[in-house]
Amino acid sequence: MRNFEYFAPTRVIFGKDTHLQIGTLLKGQNCHKVLIHYGGHSAVKSGLIDEIKKNLDEAGIAYVTLGGVVPNPRLSKVREGIELCRRENVDFLLAVGGGSVIDSCKAIGYGLANPETDVWKFFLRTETPKACLPVGVILTIAASGSEMSNSCVITNEEGWLKRSTARNDLCRPRFAILNPRLTYTLPQYQTESGCVDILMHTMERYFVNIETMEITDSISESLMQTVIYNARILMKEPDNYTARAEIMWAGSLSHNGLTGCGTGGGDWACHQLEHELGGTYDVAHGAGLAALWGSWARYVYEANPERFAQFATNVFEIPCSLDFNKTALAGIEAMEDFFRSIQMPTSLHELGLDLSEKEIHDLAFKCSFEDTRTIGVFRQLNMKDMEKIYLAAR
Ligand code: NZQ
Ligand code: ZN
Repeated sequence: MRNFEYFAPTRVIFGKDTHLQIGTLLKGQNCHKVLIHYGGHSAVKSGLIDEIKKNLDEAGIAYVTLGGVVPNPRLSKVREGIELCRRENVDFLLAVGGGSVIDSCKAIGYGLANPETDVWKFFLRTETPKACLPVGVILTIAASGSEMSNSCVITNEEGWLKRSTARNDLCRPRFAILNPRLTYTLPQYQTESGCVDILMHTMERYFVNIETMEITDSISESLMQTVIYNARILMKEPDNYTARAEIMWAGSLSHNGLTGCGTGGGDWACHQLEHELGGTYDVAHGAGLAALWGSWARYVYEANPERFAQFATNVFEIPCSLDFNKTALAGIEAMEDFFRSIQMPTSLHELGLDLSEKEIHDLAFKCSFEDTRTIGVFRQLNMKDMEKIYLAAR
């Protein structure tokens, strides 16, 4: 096992009606003016934004609003937010939404707190942020784990580059309000796409090629089983509070560092490969991951078939044969069967993308930063490997 530091400072307020505590919570933050940041329609249509405004009015907290964050959130909206907050002297950022809104808030926070630097430089990783304005979250979709995470992903429309900042604790939200009921209005596709993302945040940390910790493996395997079980329930019962709650808490635990304790940071190749899909073709993040994962797994499993066999046995209860390769492949198939059972794609075609060889090459070229970097640690992948995985996923 590797040495590790576990730091999860976000205060979590979990359960029914918890979003009504927002006024009290913000009072405790001693802020002067709040930005209420949200997405396209869902939070307005459900009445959530009005409820929050009323709550803030009653608590005597000043605010401005900025909606219109789109999935795969854009740099232009971040810049708009920075300008608005500067003009209005905003000193606290409240994200009402999912990963896209939270990341837009985090990026605005970086921009405001580092006025001497163009915010995109933090995503190119040519500069490191020195501070970030405080961010709070009212979560409406369980998926990204951004409500407790130390990363932030933004798409720059110039070149359609989807890039993440280096991990930085400065952007971890101060608090996250997790009310499972707020996720009842999600379309099934978004619910299930979110479940895949949650699984992947643990799987990226699980598939490493080093000796891991039994306790971390056990937590990870239980988390994966819980998500698989409840994702299936939500296909039939979207209003099942217990299933929504299990998925929501799994989402936060999957990406707050817990499932990576001792595993040395994780692989993250699938995420890198997916970010190019999201940036270029604007697909839902979790669905993009589902479309790629099987091809990635079959490409790399021979680097450590025992690890994949453990996954097959402990997550899908597949009896472990003496031939680890056989068990490993059965585990990969079981995961793809699960994706199909929740109507998630297992190929780029099923994701809605029929890509030419030239388009696949361009994705690999972008993902390898023009053939200057490798990705992954389970098996290190260069541009040619990336191209082969995208091709296999067609
Ligand atoms: O814009 P609205 O109308 O709100 O619709 C959203 C959006 O279309 C909808 N939605 C959200 N809550 C809803 C709802 N619809 C009905 N009822 C509700 N309660 O769902 C759609 C997707 O929302 P989005 O925020 O994009 O989803 P998600 O949470 O999956 O976030 C995806 C983004 O997070 C990034 C992804 O790359 C992607 O850009 N990630 C961020 C991470 C981080 N910062 O730690 C880690 C992740 O790996 C991920 O990369
Ligand atoms: Zn993800």
